[in-house]
Amino acid sequence: MKNQINVLLILLLSALSLAWIEYQAKEWKVPGKYINLKNPYANKVDTKFVGKTLYKIHCSSCHGKQGLGDGVKAKRLKSAVPDFSLQDFQKQKDGELYFKSFIGRDEMPNFEKKIHKEEERWLLINYMRTLKKE
Ligand code: HEC
Repeated sequence: MKNQINVLLILLLSALSLAWIEYQAKEWKVPGKYINLKNPYANKVDTKFVGKTLYKIHCSSCHGKQGLGDGVKAKRLKSAVPDFSLQDFQKQKDGELYFKSFIGRDEMPNFEKKIHKEEERWLLINYMRTLKKE
């Protein structure tokens, strides 16, 4: 009886540590200097739809037209494509989205070269803010 309990405990602990390792791997490590970046265009009205256009050209193939993570390329990826309409996504700071969008990691491409103007980058982030659920 005692032995069985020990085996169960060991199994439980292994499952917990595996879950923890997986959780840690999924978390993005966004450097402090990015987290605290200020969006200089936070209140800019994007009359020329710069953000929307850039999103359509560079992001919608994976992230989907409405940002739900259902773009045509999404199925071919190993990583899950996140849903931009969710609160968990939207509650992040602009600086965190900046790091993830332009530096990227793994299957999320780096866009530093393709989208190099600061104003365009921030207008794209402003556009992602409009993809939240009503
Ligand atoms: C080739 C497919 C692909 C393209 C194109 C792409 N992404 Fe991604 N994106 C991903 C994947 C996959 C992830 C999840 C990566 C991970 O967790 O490691 C991701 C994650 C993100 C995240 C982090 C989401 C979160 O939950 O915090 C942001 C922000 C993001 N992408 C923005 C963009 C922007 C902006 C563009 C266009 C400029 C873009 N992506 C283009 C595949 C793509």
